[in-house]
Amino acid sequence: TNQKITATAHTNIALVKYWGKADQSLIIPQTDSLSLTLKAFYTTTSVVFDPRLSSDTITFDGVLASHDDQEKMSRFLDLVRAQADVSLRAAVTTVNHVPVAAGLASSASGYAALAAAASRAAGLNLSRHDLSRLARRGSGSASRSVFGGFAAWHRGTDDATSYAYPIDEQPDWDLGVMAVVLDQTTKKISSRTGMQRSVATSPFYPAWIEANEQDFDAIQVAIKAHDIESLGQITEHNALRMHALTLSAEPGFTYFNGATLAAIELVQQTRQELGGRYYFTIDAGPNVKIIGLRTDLETQLLPRMQAHFGAANVLLTAAGPGVTIQA
Ligand code: DP6
Repeated sequence: TNQKITATAHTNIALVKYWGKADQSLIIPQTDSLSLTLKAFYTTTSVVFDPRLSSDTITFDGVLASHDDQEKMSRFLDLVRAQADVSLRAAVTTVNHVPVAAGLASSASGYAALAAAASRAAGLNLSRHDLSRLARRGSGSASRSVFGGFAAWHRGTDDATSYAYPIDEQPDWDLGVMAVVLDQTTKKISSRTGMQRSVATSPFYPAWIEANEQDFDAIQVAIKAHDIESLGQITEHNALRMHALTLSAEPGFTYFNGATLAAIELVQQTRQELGGRYYFTIDAGPNVKIIGLRTDLETQLLPRMQAHFGAANVLLTAAGPGVTIQA
């Protein structure tokens, strides 16, 4: 210990989504999920366990974290301390590399980077398997950001059996991902609250589980075959079904805004008109991400999206790497 360790992890977008927990405190999900880790959006976090500190101090982009964030991250650091048999407090500095201020920031890259830096700083040398289990305790989707490219999170039934694993870490086909930033304000209903309400009150929840299992199997066939049409169709259906859970909850709610619907329409229209291969997905916020063939995205969709939503709000990226620890 006493050594400062820096780690970097990238965000991921779920193509077959995690939306609901079976265990709130261990973060065991109701279903398996599958995502693509993204190159352009990442978090770099440094951790040092310091005998001079009387409490954990956490800064985000140079600013001291809010009381709630401090508590959440301290609880996470407690898990690391327990595993490593360390009692020292930590100084944590986090820098988010997201091209646009907010709206795309993610707890996934944040907790994957924190898990890697904190565990190593505490003297642990975790395998990526165990690192994904640790990252999961901070935020479920963070488990998948331990791996690059396509990664899956196996639901499991307890702490030992709920982990992420690589599906295809360096997909060698011409994939691209477009992110369209439509609203930079933070979401009103956190994914944690939103999914909890969906599980507890949506009458469609059992159907979601069943459909999700089928999507999870089918998308892996599409990934293996480099079949973008099939991958894309599964991705769109899966996203819309997830958002049907929020609308059908009590009280019902949605992460979509007017611009979200306009972006969906523009994707569908352009695809129909020009015959391109690109497909949308949406997480717990209004912003739209589009996965497709990079050339189709660049030549067909990019100009239209830029014209409609402003060039600064449209970002094009590709598959990114898993978590790394800097020497
Ligand atoms: C819609 O991983 O942020 O992005 O485990 O409560 O921290 P917690 O939730 P989080 O939820 C992600 C929800 C999602 C879908 C996904 O990433 O699979």
